[in-house]
Amino acid sequence: MEIIRGKHTSFLNASTLAERLDGYDTVHIDIGTGDGRFVQHVAQTCPHSFVIGIDACRENLHEVSRRAPSNALFVIANAQVLPPELHGLAAHVTINFPWGSLLEGLLDNDAALLESLFTVMRPNAELEVRLNGGALSEVGWSLEEGADRVRDVLTVNGFEVRLPITLRACELRACPTTWAKRLAYGRDPRAVYLRGVSSVELLGVAAYTTQAVNLG
Ligand SMILES: C[S@@+](CC[C@H](N)C(=O)[O-])C[C@H]1O[C@@H](n2cnc3c(N)ncnc32)[C@H](O)[C@@H]1O
Repeated sequence: MEIIRGKHTSFLNASTLAERLDGYDTVHIDIGTGDGRFVQHVAQTCPHSFVIGIDACRENLHEVSRRAPSNALFVIANAQVLPPELHGLAAHVTINFPWGSLLEGLLDNDAALLESLFTVMRPNAELEVRLNGGALSEVGWSLEEGADRVRDVLTVNGFEVRLPITLRACELRACPTTWAKRLAYGRDPRAVYLRGVSSVELLGVAAYTTQAVNLG
């Protein structure tokens, strides 16, 4: 898989990744990581975790990846086609304030995205998704309906997801991502938080149902 440090990109194979992961308790993957500040924060505050930030856009990653701690790694990849080297690794996945094909895939029950998400997760892995009102309204959804829709999509694909929780500006300010801060101090600080767990029972069938399920 393609990794980035500063402006330098290279390829990392599964055995070299396994060496890097050796000694860590758990793997956390942040999808649509943007500039990588959230990954940097988690890596610094959870030294026993190995944290992997993934984004399709490499330019924003130059600065943070250059001074990434040893338990952080940045991967250039499309969320719909996550690299096989990451399969079955993550005990924890976050998707913070997605936009573009990442957000649309969650709303449209995109089979490639949902399968890809599942393949990197361990059984009973935790998934956290934060959605913001502006990004949802740009693709035709209100914050409440969009949050319910993403929850339904995740549920039919084998996640047990709790009810959405509204995030206020003060909670966004405390959230260690660049986009959360922008939202908190911007004109539209509306966001929701979804938290779920990948269900062991449904894990096996999820890959076959993503396209077939009719969400109404
Ligand atoms: C609004 S930014 C949020 C960045 C970061 N999570 C934060 O909270 O600061 C959304 C990010 O999703 C990424 N993204 C959108 N579609 C993607 C896809 N299909 N695969 C990987 N990343 C994607 C974009 O490149 C962008 O960096």
